[in-house]
Formats: sequence, structure tokens, C-alpha cells
Amino acid sequence: MPDGIELILADHRAVDALFEAFDAAPDGAIIGQILDMLTAHDDAEHGALYPFASLTLGTDSISAARQAHTALKQQMDHLKALEGVPLLESFTVLRQLVEAHVQDEESNLLPALREAVTPTDLDALGARILQVKQRGG
Ligand SMILES: [Fe+2]
Ligand SMILES: [Fe+2]
Repeated sequence: MPDGIELILADHRAVDALFEAFDAAPDGAIIGQILDMLTAHDDAEHGALYPFASLTLGTDSISAARQAHTALKQQMDHLKALEGVPLLESFTVLRQLVEAHVQDEESNLLPALREAVTPTDLDALGARILQVKQRGG
């Protein structure tokens, strides 16, 4: 079974793939799928990853992530009310926010966590992430 960090990385790659699918064939349905995936990922990180990181590495370790998720949620809410060109413009901003945060998470928080905890801890984190996702937040 993938460990907690691998599950988070798999989500990141799945969102990358949806953004690429949108580039290849822009379609509102893909935007909907991206918003659903980002919501499920936010649930998994807030319900499992960030509490675990906060306990292990301290609350400062997740302050940038919390800010980034707040900005992302605001952008997602904003975008849901739009159509046409304004929707596409907002979607581009959302994508930039997602890509910047994913890069930050993968360069800082996730490597620090892998360094600080045992493989058993990461397996337990993986189980918790799956639990949160099954529950739907
Ligand atoms: Fe995140
Ligand atoms: Fe993430």
C-alpha cells in the first residue's frame, strides 16, 4: 500500500494530468473534475497530513500551507460564479496558485516529514488519509 506521502504525491500528479487534459481540450467538465479533486485533496491534507505534520514538525511547518489553501479556496469559490472568458482567467490564476503550492509542499513539507518520521508512521498517515477521503472530509 502506498504510504501517506505517496498518496499525497499521487493526488498532485492526478491534478497535473487534469490540467494537461484541459490544455489539450479545454472543457468545463474538466474544470469541474479539478475542483472536485482539489476539494478532496484539501480534506485529506487538513484532516490528516497537516495535523500529523503539525504534531511532528511543529505548527510553523504548516503555516504557509494553510495560507495557500485559504487562497485556493477563495479562488475556487470566486471561479464557481463565473462563465466564459472571466472563468478562464480565474482558472488560470487557480492553476498558478495550485502549481506554486504543490511545488512548495513537495520541496519543503513532504521531504521534511519523510526525514522526521518512521515508515510505520507514514503508513499510518496513509491509512488516515484514505479514511478521511472515504468519509468525504
Ligand atoms: Fe496542500
Ligand atoms: Fe497537496
